[in-house]
Amino acid sequence: MLSVDEAGISDAVSALANGDLVAIPTETVYGLAGDARCGMAVARIFEAKGRPSFNPLIVHVPDIATARLYGVWSDMAQTLAQIHWPGPLTLVLPLRADAGLSTLVTAGQDSVALRVPAHPTALALLRAFGGPLAAPSANPSGQISPTRPPHVASGLGGRIAAILDGGACGVGVESTIIGLTGAPTLLRPGGLPTEAIEAAIGAPLARHTDGDPITAPGQLGSHYAPNATMRLNADSAGPDEVLLGFGPTHGAALNLSPTGDLTEAAANLFDHLHQMDRTARTIAVAPIPDHGLGRAINDRLRRAAAPR
Ligand code: TXA
Ligand code: MG
Repeated sequence: MLSVDEAGISDAVSALANGDLVAIPTETVYGLAGDARCGMAVARIFEAKGRPSFNPLIVHVPDIATARLYGVWSDMAQTLAQIHWPGPLTLVLPLRADAGLSTLVTAGQDSVALRVPAHPTALALLRAFGGPLAAPSANPSGQISPTRPPHVASGLGGRIAAILDGGACGVGVESTIIGLTGAPTLLRPGGLPTEAIEAAIGAPLARHTDGDPITAPGQLGSHYAPNATMRLNADSAGPDEVLLGFGPTHGAALNLSPTGDLTEAAANLFDHLHQMDRTARTIAVAPIPDHGLGRAINDRLRRAAAPR
């Protein structure tokens, strides 16, 4: 466990330069970071997570100038990045021929997912490391994402070099992913509400529909799954169930936000699922409104509840 001071960041940089993996705090969830230019480091990420190799990784960079080294830039990319970076927004751009990233990072596709995280430690580390960091969420593939260091330790402990201890993540759900290889398309709802993106581009986003081939494999059915089974839109807990509330829910074991605040609910989502998963057989979840951050929360809950 490394502290988020100069010494901790310097130790993290050494590990990364060595091709080792470091779990890092971001504003969304903890990421499992490795040098995106180094095939061995990226292979270790897939191995540590047990992740299907066709699933490409997000490349984290400290600023727009660095992003432009890897993705083919456009006016649309500039508009969105200028307004929403650093922040919970990932842009999928055509991959530059001279990007120099490991082909494993893009899973052999001719596009690359880029993001500038809004977390002081992540940004300090990116600047100190001086290179792009591939970082999927720091959890075993398919399981609940980590928003606190103990979540990372319980899922990946022993398989990674270090965890940079930045405390709890503020946003709590992964970044929103927008495809910009054609018309701007929502590939994954996330920590930046789609309303904010549509306001920035002045037009509705295209939606990735179910019939399409999988272009963001995070869209696979079962994902973010606890060991417990899940039942959604529950008004009360049945026998053998524990209730995860939202707003004024009666009889809830834990509540995502007693006041019905979607921002607070997103920040608590994965931590509450981790906690309840220690004992519950079935987690029943109260209805969550499907707007703003509620879209990302409902997306994660549907995948957590999907047949495994
Ligand atoms: O908030 C986040 O985005 C976190 C933190 C750590 O930054 N990262 C994260 O990464 O959620 P990950 O690897 O768990 O999710 C990456 C998603 C996957 O659904 C993947 O398929 C999609 O991004 N993706 C990556 N590269 C892509 C590409 N070239 N084209 C389409 N989708 C891509
Ligand atoms: Mg993930």
